[in-house]
Amino acid sequence: MSGVALVTGADRGLGLALTAGLVERGWRVFAGQYMPEWPELGALAARHPGAVEIVPLDVSCAASVTAAARTVGERSDRLDLIINNAGINAGRTELREGLDWEAMHRAYNVNALGPIRVVEAFLPRMAQGMRRLAFVSSEAGSIAMNNRQGSFGYCMSKTALNMAVRIMHNELRRAGYTFRLYHPGWVRSYMSGQKNMRATLEPEEAAACALPFFLEDRDDEDRLVLIDYEGREWPF
Ligand SMILES: NC(=O)c1ccc[n+]([C@@H]2O[C@H](COP(=O)([O-])OP(=O)(O)OC[C@H]3O[C@@H](n4cnc5c(N)ncnc54)[C@H](OP(=O)(O)O)[C@@H]3O)[C@@H](O)[C@H]2O)c1
Repeated sequence: MSGVALVTGADRGLGLALTAGLVERGWRVFAGQYMPEWPELGALAARHPGAVEIVPLDVSCAASVTAAARTVGERSDRLDLIINNAGINAGRTELREGLDWEAMHRAYNVNALGPIRVVEAFLPRMAQGMRRLAFVSSEAGSIAMNNRQGSFGYCMSKTALNMAVRIMHNELRRAGYTFRLYHPGWVRSYMSGQKNMRATLEPEEAAACALPFFLEDRDDEDRLVLIDYEGREWPF
């Protein structure tokens, strides 16, 4: 199965690897670019003309999301899959260290509200085709399993994302949409500003684990599940 996809936060890390993995599988990808100064996505697009199309996209900004949806609509009459991947960290501050309120607001805006903005704007483009909505969440959002101290901004934003996906599932499942809620593992990506070599998975390895879950059909699409890179289900 191949088609037309949108990937948010495609500049580097997991989003770039997901974009490359989709192209390898024959997909055409609109790749959301947040960091025009970062060269990797441009290089990928140059290697795959027509298959990777770069679209400026800041998921925290309604005008940017609306403009991206307009651009995609002008270039393609279908959109089969959205991978809501863009995400940011919000620092690891604990209660007694002085919390970074601005960073927490930013994380909520990008990680929780961003995917809702994207789905709202792009939904009219998805009436035909696969109608699949994928969301890169995190084990950090699981209330049942969380044992972190601090990290309010990141953890709470992912919990809120999980709730947003639950509500979308309630609303859109009957209209034929299918959902993928996912924890990608500990990825050697750039959430801390530099590539985190202490993590266990290269972005390409993480994408290779994620894409089968994002692309293949499940037996029970009516049940929303949070699945990790090893296929384990998490309470969320
Ligand atoms: N890395 C992990 O171990 C891990 C674990 C669990 C879940 N995740 C999730 O995996 C997803 C991908 O993260 P990653 O690990 O690949 O991190 P990453 O390397 O930082 O990639 C995320 C990309 O999204 C971009 N971005 C930031 N704000 C954005 C915005 N407002 N609009 C659009 N794009 C934006 C980032 O740009 P900047 O670099 O400028 O911020 C970056 O290019 C995130 O949702 C993250 O929460 C990651």
